[in-house]
Amino acid sequence: MVKITWLRLGAVVAFQKKWNTAAFSVPTFTKLGHGPSVREGTRLYAAGKTTSQFPDISCVIIDPKTYGTVNDQVMDVASYRNGRTSPEQMIAAQRAKRDSFDPTASALEGVKIGLGIGAAIGIFTAIGDDADSIQGKIMAGVQNFAVIGGVTAGLLGYNNYSGNRVYVMEMKEAVNRLTVDFVASLKISQDIGFAAYLEPKYALTFKNGRFDGCNGLVATVDCQLRNSKFNVPLENGVMPKEYPEVPSPHVHVKNMDVDETVRRRGIAKKLLNNLEEWARTSTDAKLLTLEVRADNTSALALYEQFGFKKDAETKRKTRAGCLFMVKEIN
Ligand SMILES: CC(C)(COP(=O)(O)OP(=O)(O)OC[C@H]1O[C@@H](n2cnc3c(N)ncnc32)[C@H](O)[C@@H]1OP(=O)(O)O)[C@@H](O)C(=O)NCCC(=O)NCCS
Repeated sequence: MVKITWLRLGAVVAFQKKWNTAAFSVPTFTKLGHGPSVREGTRLYAAGKTTSQFPDISCVIIDPKTYGTVNDQVMDVASYRNGRTSPEQMIAAQRAKRDSFDPTASALEGVKIGLGIGAAIGIFTAIGDDADSIQGKIMAGVQNFAVIGGVTAGLLGYNNYSGNRVYVMEMKEAVNRLTVDFVASLKISQDIGFAAYLEPKYALTFKNGRFDGCNGLVATVDCQLRNSKFNVPLENGVMPKEYPEVPSPHVHVKNMDVDETVRRRGIAKKLLNNLEEWARTSTDAKLLTLEVRADNTSALALYEQFGFKKDAETKRKTRAGCLFMVKEIN
């Protein structure tokens, strides 16, 4: 006998629903942990003044009041780290992909998949059916194929025809995704960032618009104030960023990156200068610290030229293959 249960139909509907949304849950940040500099109203981001080595780089101060909005510099950093692609560009790419499908051909593909699923279920039904005769088993299989295959083919065909086959994000989701993937530590770990921008007039033309998506941002570095009396409890009352291995207050430098097309023009040095000036004037840090891969010769050369020394004394734990480096300030 035919055994079309509500359970089976439910599975088909659930499959269709999943196919349609084809997404994932995106966490949102409702409570942000701000670092002391943000709390005190000083800059969140800063970058170098015009440099004679690369006159196209301009000074930018990113105002924390714009923190978390679509077109602010935090989003520029996320876009830079996302291959220089902005949320708008991500959505446009998804739309273009969706619109590139021919609806009829796409619907036919959906129908084929649906019939395939129906055929597979029909065969399993026939094999497992408890009818006495072969004909009875075949009938059960054919009927399940017709109903489940028909429903699934219809749903998938319609789904593909109507363009739901390619998921297109809303702006809020694109922004959240970039935030979570690329600047979460700035938001939740009280990190401070520094960014270097091209002059706007160059941003749209330089390297054929390579930097359009991040509004001309070409380099970033983050840092974290540790062991500082400026540190304030997080909302759950936990004191963050205590690192007993380095007893004094210090600023730990991380995520230094200069776009490969503009290296050896003094941009990293400029960012480090700005970072050090901020650490000297806005924090109680006595040291700058960082971790660098021992085989990263260009970064080692940069840090050594900037006055960092390999820290041989503390035998501090680092990730495998890395060196800990320290520079005294103040
Ligand atoms: C390392 C890096 C940040 C340097 O950025 P940059 O803007 O090219 O560096 P600068 O132009 O400011 O260089 C300053 C000094 O660093 C040293 N330096 C930088 N790159 C160097 C290289 N490839 N070879 C040798 N020395 C180098 C030089 O002493 C240079 O001074 P000089 O040009 O007057 O000789 C960049 O190469 C980069 O982003 N690399 C990939 C990411 C990375 O490794 N980050 C570091 C993680 S710890």
